[in-house]
Amino acid sequence: MSRLVSVSMTFSGSFVLALSRIILFINCFLSARGKIPSTLDGPFEPVTVPFDVSLRGNAVDLPDNDSRVRRTVKGFEPEQISVSLSATYDSVWISWITGEFQIGYNIKPLEPKSVASVVRYGRLRHPLTGEAKGYSLVYNQLYPFDGLQNYTSGIIHHVRLTGLEPDTRYYYRCGDPSIPAMSGVHHFKTMPVSGPRSYPSRIAVVGDLGLTYNTTTTINHVISHKAALVLLIGDVTYANQYLTNGTGSDCYSCSFSDSPIHETYQPRWDYWGRLTLFLLFSLAL
Ligand SMILES: [Fe+2]
Repeated sequence: MSRLVSVSMTFSGSFVLALSRIILFINCFLSARGKIPSTLDGPFEPVTVPFDVSLRGNAVDLPDNDSRVRRTVKGFEPEQISVSLSATYDSVWISWITGEFQIGYNIKPLEPKSVASVVRYGRLRHPLTGEAKGYSLVYNQLYPFDGLQNYTSGIIHHVRLTGLEPDTRYYYRCGDPSIPAMSGVHHFKTMPVSGPRSYPSRIAVVGDLGLTYNTTTTINHVISHKAALVLLIGDVTYANQYLTNGTGSDCYSCSFSDSPIHETYQPRWDYWGRLTLFLLFSLAL
């Protein structure tokens, strides 16, 4: 189940997974031809790599009380900050969450407009001369069955930056300056201008990332290989392996066959956003 399918730019390094296959593929060509091939050198014969039996087969989910998935901000300070590539090199989306999610029988959704969506940015860390405003929304999961808990998210903010220079580092802060509740200063690098001889040098393709102890290894691997662009193809946290009371199982249909509808434990989305941000900021810098 995917809530997020996006192309994410690196904060300075970034994420992997199916990367082991890609790396093996690249190594194969490196040794044979002495250079990294591009799509212009193709088409290539498909290469299948045997499964590495040393990998852990049974992925274990991070529990709710793991410090890396807990909320660390106060009030309406931004959390779960992400940077996504927009249509071309000159535009990116900055997204984040403010306020606490709620799960239970009597939830009261937050008012999205109560917290502004502002990004201050620029090529210099000080001063950040650019400013862009965006929009906000709240996501709800409401079940029409007694006994199932409902979920409402924190306020989800999206701001699109435009007119950016290619292949350039930008610094930014996001939040609501009137509260005040702004993030710290972070940075990203824009893509090069698209062309036959101009493209991101390293692209990581990641799927089925999950929210397990293996996820840490995967993201660490992507970061260590300095991917310029991460293509996140879906299946992130597997919230659908849980009941609304937070009880999980490796086999939903085996364990919860009497559930009136396929339940989910929505806070897993927030946990995923926190873990990935934690890893990117702590490992990539
Ligand atoms: Fe999957």
